[in-house]
Amino acid sequence: MTKITAAISAVGKYLPDHVLTNAMLENMVDTTDEWIVTRTGIKERRILKGTGKGSSYMAIRAGKDLIKKTGLDPKEIDLVIVSTATPDMQAASTAAYTATQLGAVNAFTFDLISACSSFLYGMATAARYIESGRYKKVLLIGSDMNSSMIDYEDRATCIIFGDGAGAVLFEPNVEGYGLQDEVLQTDGIGREYLQVPAGGSLMPPTLETVKNKKHFVYQDGRTVFKFAVSKMAEAAEKVLERNNLHKESIDWLAAHQANKRIVDATGRRLQLKEEQVMLNIEKYGNTTSATIPLLLNDYENQLKKGDKIIFAAFGGGFSWGAIYYIWAYNGNK
Ligand code: UT7
Repeated sequence: MTKITAAISAVGKYLPDHVLTNAMLENMVDTTDEWIVTRTGIKERRILKGTGKGSSYMAIRAGKDLIKKTGLDPKEIDLVIVSTATPDMQAASTAAYTATQLGAVNAFTFDLISACSSFLYGMATAARYIESGRYKKVLLIGSDMNSSMIDYEDRATCIIFGDGAGAVLFEPNVEGYGLQDEVLQTDGIGREYLQVPAGGSLMPPTLETVKNKKHFVYQDGRTVFKFAVSKMAEAAEKVLERNNLHKESIDWLAAHQANKRIVDATGRRLQLKEEQVMLNIEKYGNTTSATIPLLLNDYENQLKKGDKIIFAAFGGGFSWGAIYYIWAYNGNK
């Protein structure tokens, strides 16, 4: 029997119009453009404005962008996964609403929540459905409205995060392109260092939790930074080793855009040239589940069929991992 691999056949994206620049942040908290650029590489980020808009608003638009570009009939989509750390609401699936709005009426859906690793884990999950032979079109969307849980008086977090969404379509491939292998890992020690303390089952919302700002992201940046640098590179090296791949044969690194210094360090560990390391953090900041699909959108024109890509991510939990992937089409088709 021919082996089925899961390959990305199209990408799409959505970014809100409102731009929050470093200069604007200088007027909001005690920070400088110079500090932000040298410590993170970020120059600006997008923020979703307006009431009644959540992560699904952006997920739907990223999905529509992909559908428009490909002419795909949404009725043919078998599964819609929305990777997100900021679902629209508790209990109701963000993916279900997104799929219905996209006209994917024959799809089943679920949200995949694993902080900044949500999209990477989503790729591995989408691949399993395709590889089973039973599902032919899996739409994976990473969408996060980080601004909904950021305290714009906290300079340690508000300079980092942005909003956005990116979508990819996974389809079966019988020529060996697509997702080859992955290393996915977690360590629960991490929840102490990166969390939104209240709003979940552990600390349900009360007047006190609101007053004490417990619904905002708390991050011990220095500790998260150290783990991210070592774990992302470790996972990437592991996946290379397992596939007998030399570092020279890798064409691209597509790493979660948490901090330019973390991405650069991972690139150096893989002995990649600067131009092989995908980077767009300067424009969007850390968009959590959307960073990887936004990279694919921005670099699509440069990607060639057969390019070997290492995907890597690190996030809350802690959760992290790396994927070895062979690109399936010429991006400038
Ligand atoms: O995506 C999910 C995973 N998240 C990450 O991977 C994020 C990982 N962490 C980071 O990216 C970095 O740790 C940060 C960007 C969050 C912070 O950079 P850092 O180089 O680790 O800075 P730091 O927290 O060690 O702080 C250094 C100094 C401190 O001052 P003192 O104690 O040395 O006087 C901070 O108070 O910089 C100060 N500082 C700031 N100064 C100006 C912290 N935030 C700011 C700021 N502007 N926005």
